[in-house]
Amino acid sequence: MARLGFGTLLLYSFFFSILRTFTALDTINPIQSLRDGETLVSAGQTFELGFFSLADPNRRYLGSWYKKIFPRTMVWVANRETPLANTLGSLNITAQGNLVLVNVTNYIFWSSNTSTIAKDPVARLLDTGNFVISDATDGNPENFLWQSFDYPDNTVLPEMKFGVNLVTGHETFSSSWRSIEDPAPGQFSVHLDLRGYPQLFLKKENRIQYRAGSWNAVGLTGTPVLKPNPIFTFEFVSNDNEMYFKYDVPNNSILARYTLHPSGLLQRFQWNERANDWVVIAAAQTDQCNNYAFCGAYASCELNNSPVCLCLDGFMPKSPRDWNMLLWSDGCVPRTPLDCVNGDGFLKHTGIKLPDTSSSWYDEKIDLKQCHNLCLRNCSCSAYANLDMRDGGSGCLLWFGDLIDMRRLGAGGQDLYVRMAASELEKTEKKRSSIKKILGIIFGSVAEVISMLMVFCICWRNLRKHGMLKKIRRKNDHCEGREEEMELPMFDLTTIVDATNNFSSSNKLGEGGFGPVYKGTSSEGQEIAVKRLSKSSGQGLREFKNEVILIAKLQHRNLVKLLGCYIHEDEKMLIYEYMPNKSLDFFIFDQTRRKLLDWCKRIQIIDGIARGLIYLHQDSRLRIIHRDLKTSNILLDSDMNPKISDFGLARIFGGDQTEAKTKRVVGTYGYMSPEYAVDGLFSVKSDLFSFGVLVLEIVSGKKNRGFCHPDHDRNLLGHAWILWTNETPLELIDDCLRDSCIASEVIRCINVALLCVQKRPEDRPNMASVVVMLSSENSLPQPKQPGFFTERSPPEADTSSNEHQSYSANEISLSLFEAR
Ligand SMILES: *[C@@H]1O[C@H](CO)[C@@H](O)[C@H](O)[C@H]1NC(C)=O
Ligand SMILES: *[C@@H]1O[C@H](CO)[C@@H](O)[C@H](O)[C@H]1NC(C)=O
Ligand SMILES: *[C@@H]1O[C@H](CO)[C@@H](O)[C@H](O)[C@H]1NC(C)=O
Ligand SMILES: *[C@@H]1O[C@H](CO)[C@@H](O)[C@H](O)[C@H]1NC(C)=O
Ligand SMILES: *[C@@H]1O[C@H](CO)[C@@H](O)[C@H](O)[C@H]1NC(C)=O
Repeated sequence: MARLGFGTLLLYSFFFSILRTFTALDTINPIQSLRDGETLVSAGQTFELGFFSLADPNRRYLGSWYKKIFPRTMVWVANRETPLANTLGSLNITAQGNLVLVNVTNYIFWSSNTSTIAKDPVARLLDTGNFVISDATDGNPENFLWQSFDYPDNTVLPEMKFGVNLVTGHETFSSSWRSIEDPAPGQFSVHLDLRGYPQLFLKKENRIQYRAGSWNAVGLTGTPVLKPNPIFTFEFVSNDNEMYFKYDVPNNSILARYTLHPSGLLQRFQWNERANDWVVIAAAQTDQCNNYAFCGAYASCELNNSPVCLCLDGFMPKSPRDWNMLLWSDGCVPRTPLDCVNGDGFLKHTGIKLPDTSSSWYDEKIDLKQCHNLCLRNCSCSAYANLDMRDGGSGCLLWFGDLIDMRRLGAGGQDLYVRMAASELEKTEKKRSSIKKILGIIFGSVAEVISMLMVFCICWRNLRKHGMLKKIRRKNDHCEGREEEMELPMFDLTTIVDATNNFSSSNKLGEGGFGPVYKGTSSEGQEIAVKRLSKSSGQGLREFKNEVILIAKLQHRNLVKLLGCYIHEDEKMLIYEYMPNKSLDFFIFDQTRRKLLDWCKRIQIIDGIARGLIYLHQDSRLRIIHRDLKTSNILLDSDMNPKISDFGLARIFGGDQTEAKTKRVVGTYGYMSPEYAVDGLFSVKSDLFSFGVLVLEIVSGKKNRGFCHPDHDRNLLGHAWILWTNETPLELIDDCLRDSCIASEVIRCINVALLCVQKRPEDRPNMASVVVMLSSENSLPQPKQPGFFTERSPPEADTSSNEHQSYSANEISLSLFEAR
């Protein structure tokens, strides 16, 4: 090459550029550079490499993409942080084998910094998407002097070795783009972490956000779906020279990639020919249990449990107060302190995503028995497990220090043996075996129970027929509920009459769903609120009992507390704690009072309502659907803390029940979800819809129903959606909040609210994710068009024309379709 004269060189390059115009090449060499406008195409026509720009045409990048896929999907960018300013750049390979990206004055914008000197270098774009430099004089074409697969950006392609070269110390990791328009490294990255037993981490800056887990020879612990299958293979290689993960899709006609979105979402995509689009096959962060260390130390995250975080057996919350407030990050501590010298034991936990292995030690050759002994002897060893899950398990993995980031997976999980004090171990094992025994007895005598129940039912019917039950129950000095007694004080009428000044109008607080509410002061000076159910009210005995049973069982700082009740023939009353600040609608829809609730207060109110709802939906012993959430049912205490009230329409769901249907649609227009208003279907997701409406009302200070806008006839949801799509969501905000609000929080609230009012229940988040979304800084999913965004209400019941005269009329809960 060196002997070629300058003239010949020019001739060559002229010849090659003509050639490139007609046929796409997959290589460049020192005499033929790649200019902006030209591209390399891999031999199988899968990938293409060249210059491109994103949003800004004056920022030119060199990178590669799928040749046949439109719109263009980038897989690699060379000069991520140093774009060229014009379209006159070129990619050259120097005679030593260094790739350089230069402008016309030969200023170097990017260089491969190839460390080995080549005799006859050539750069080639392979069909895997790998852009490689090799030496044509080297007999082994697989011997790359440099390869783009060592420097991925946001995309991990099949066959890429993802990890660390122990000889050179080079780490291959992936980092997100700064934004979809800027390929410079963003906040998120995925690494193979070599501390302890290697594991895959997703990090935001330096904080771990998600742990895909470590390799157990079958898959990654904690990510059972990542198991190799005929379409998708996955392996972990660990030897003296290198340590890496690699996946592959053996069928070349299937295009697959892992991409780390600027928001931190890690997803596996596959190209779907028929849909002509990328399909998400798997996503790393699917639920709250995937948040790193979500439950703190010695606790496991159990998605089907409420609350989701549970201390391991034999452990208790480090800070019970925080734990009960759903603040789990402090985790758990041993119930009985460890006593290494006098002997500890190990309790087996099954179906677990093994904890973080950053401070672990491992040996492939030791069996479980030896592993146990090793751990027992070393007082700082907190747990052990098998390393290799094949053939019933082998190898040994020991943990030192706290056990964090566990979740219960059931079938896909592993066995973990956790150290605990010998005395505690004994207790826990006894408890476990007695639970087993009890279960055995229960199942063993199901037949007996059924026959007993039958006898009981027959007796019950007879008793009822003869009116005996009434008498028996009347004797009870407690409010009666369904067919069970309630431990709830019965107030007597004179006490109530005295307290409310004989229900004087000056004591009247307002009109609730089913009758007036009065303020009262008991003889001991306690302030109470008495809800007197009007005889003509829609709330029959059924709703009344319902409310009594429900509220008596519920205890949460964001739910109003029931103090007692009164029931005699037609007269039914409920006695609640008194809320001095009335309800939310009293403030946010009032021209002057609205100013008393600044942004900070409103955020606290939204958060409080959400916490109350989580409790109703999942953390109380029952699953309760409120069915009538609205501003007038959110009461405020003296510190403006919100309390959910009015459970007259609430429904209790059994353990596995998630949805029910009713012919009797009750609730309040403007807050009802489409599937409930139209089909009578309700679930926790219908409460989510009402919650979304509530949030928009709190943020905007406007009512969903009766909302008017000069430019369109949408309701508040529709208006919020228009502003959202116009990227001007801040215009929604109540004028009086403009000074106190924090723009990012407002946008986050509106985003969450719009997700809650999605048309399809399955598109709405659950309450627990709402709380996480409101408090985290992660980016949120984009909402789609909400349900019920044009209609103000179902037409047959439209009373919006009355709106101006009678503000409370529409606020009263309606019973739409009485039982047919
Ligand atoms: C790169 O190639 C172009 C066109 O072949 C040439 O003009 C330029 O001098 C080369 N620059 C370097 C640094 O090799
Ligand atoms: C090439 O890039 C350098 C550095 O940005 C710049 O100073 C120079 O003016 C550029 N040359 C041309 C012709 O744009
Ligand atoms: C190549 O080396 C230069 C100078 O050390 C450095 O600034 C640049 O980031 C390196 N390029 C790559 C792709 O590593
Ligand atoms: C590869 O995938 C394509 C399309 O999905 C399919 O038609 C073909 O049969 C597969 N080839 C093999 C060898 O499995
Ligand atoms: C326990 O194991 C740790 C970690 O391997 C080690 O540093 C420590 O020396 C061991 N302690 C004893 C008493 O063997």
